[in-house]
Amino acid sequence: MSQEPDRESAEAAAAAYEAALGDARGDRRARGAFYTPPALVAWILDRALTPETRRVLDPACGTGHFLVAAARRLGDVRAVHGSDLDPEAVRLARARLAALDPTVPAEEIAARVRVADGLESWAGEAFDAVVGNPPFLGQLRRRTAGQTGGLGAYTDTSAAFLHRSLSLVRPGGIVALVQPLSVLAARDAGPVRAGVAERGAVVDFWCHERPVFEGTPVLTCVPVVRAGATGGVGPDGWGALAAPSFGIPAVDLPTAAGVLGDVAACTADFRDQYYGLRPYVRDARPGEVAAPPPDHAPLVTSGLIDPAEPRWGSVPTRFARNPYDAPLVDLAALRAGPDPALARWAEARLVPKVLVAAQGRVIEAVADAAGGWLPSVPVLTVVPRGPEPGVLWRVLALTLAPPVVADAAARYLGTGLTPGSIKVSARQLSGLPLPTDRTAWAEGAELARRAQEAPSDERPEVLAAVGAAMTRAYGLDPEGDGAEVLAWWRDRLPRGDRAAAGTRR
Ligand SMILES: C[S@@+](CC[C@H](N)C(=O)[O-])C[C@H]1O[C@@H](n2cnc3c(N)ncnc32)[C@H](O)[C@@H]1O
Repeated sequence: MSQEPDRESAEAAAAAYEAALGDARGDRRARGAFYTPPALVAWILDRALTPETRRVLDPACGTGHFLVAAARRLGDVRAVHGSDLDPEAVRLARARLAALDPTVPAEEIAARVRVADGLESWAGEAFDAVVGNPPFLGQLRRRTAGQTGGLGAYTDTSAAFLHRSLSLVRPGGIVALVQPLSVLAARDAGPVRAGVAERGAVVDFWCHERPVFEGTPVLTCVPVVRAGATGGVGPDGWGALAAPSFGIPAVDLPTAAGVLGDVAACTADFRDQYYGLRPYVRDARPGEVAAPPPDHAPLVTSGLIDPAEPRWGSVPTRFARNPYDAPLVDLAALRAGPDPALARWAEARLVPKVLVAAQGRVIEAVADAAGGWLPSVPVLTVVPRGPEPGVLWRVLALTLAPPVVADAAARYLGTGLTPGSIKVSARQLSGLPLPTDRTAWAEGAELARRAQEAPSDERPEVLAAVGAAMTRAYGLDPEGDGAEVLAWWRDRLPRGDRAAAGTRR
């Protein structure tokens, strides 16, 4: 159905246009125009097209990679529809399709491939498949946000495309759009995931542990949604789809025993505390590291928290853009200062607690049994609700439980700074399930206390024992069905702890 020379020149023109976009970096970024590798186009079409497919839409079609490939497979240029805001890209897409089948009048192709906003066009139409790679324009306030089913203003544009596409497929039809990995867990994409569950189910899934789009570090995935299908993951479980690609073992955490929030209050601090503390922070003088002076509190940043290892005074850190060897907060000056709310905040924080780094390769936490440290934003604070002795160490042990860490790693995949890092919020911490085996938990708690108090060369071995006890606490056998998750967790511990715990990379 093609005329070879026309086709070649249309293809060459599209390639040249994309290469030019690549040079004009700013322009490309602003439009979210990163074109899709052919292998990924093929993977998507393998799942989206069936012998019955008659109408396909790419709502952000660019120069038409999906349209051309779909038209070829279906043997019908009339089957494909597209829209893009970029008139030049649309012109090139039309030319490529025209070259595929010169018998189809240009007006017919132009009617199906339009210069239009894909979030606003195609209302009332029903397609067999909606495919493509819509723009990723995170955190851009879209003027159309209100028109795409009441999505939040910070919903990534690509997720808004996914949401809208759900209403453009017929029952049984397929939506398969490239998305940033953050769609799996980002709070702002929650309504989109809920929309998928309402209209259908994720029936297939692609993702890659490395970026596949030239020129951008964004990790991507493709949830393949079938309209009208049932079952599959719930709106909060999408992370599990990608977990295997990132080597995260699957775990099924018990939920019967309650959650961490039942036994301890988990809180985050904010910019008021961060900026408020600035004038009262100074570096410890020689001698003050071993014994901080009265009315001074060590300030604990995320970087000073390793699993069961407080590192204040032994490694330098940064606070409010300044380097410190051992930052101390002058509490007397703080109390005498002009901000009574900040002084009350500090008082409330100076209690026995567990401090949790907001992000790490595992969940990183330390216990402050004496209640003498202050957290630095974004460190999270966990304060036991009752005076029951030992709760503090049980809380620390829970953060060191390999099944809990694996579950969090899968659940919150793609929300951290790097895909390998686990980012937990206070709310998420609060929702961590408690262990079901209380005897093993008590054992883990005692070992967690020993781990934190052990000299650093002995800590790795004790940590490994905590991991094993806490694997049992969640109903898994460290030498049987829990071996994989335990090994995974040990491999992710900070280097020193990992090496001495006998694991090899
Ligand atoms: C990542 S490119 C992908 C193009 C195409 N899916 C492909 O793989 O070749 C995204 C395209 O979306 C277009 N775009 C951005 N906002 C749009 C909107 N609201 N409606 C339609 N297209 C849009 C850009 O011009 C760009 O061509």
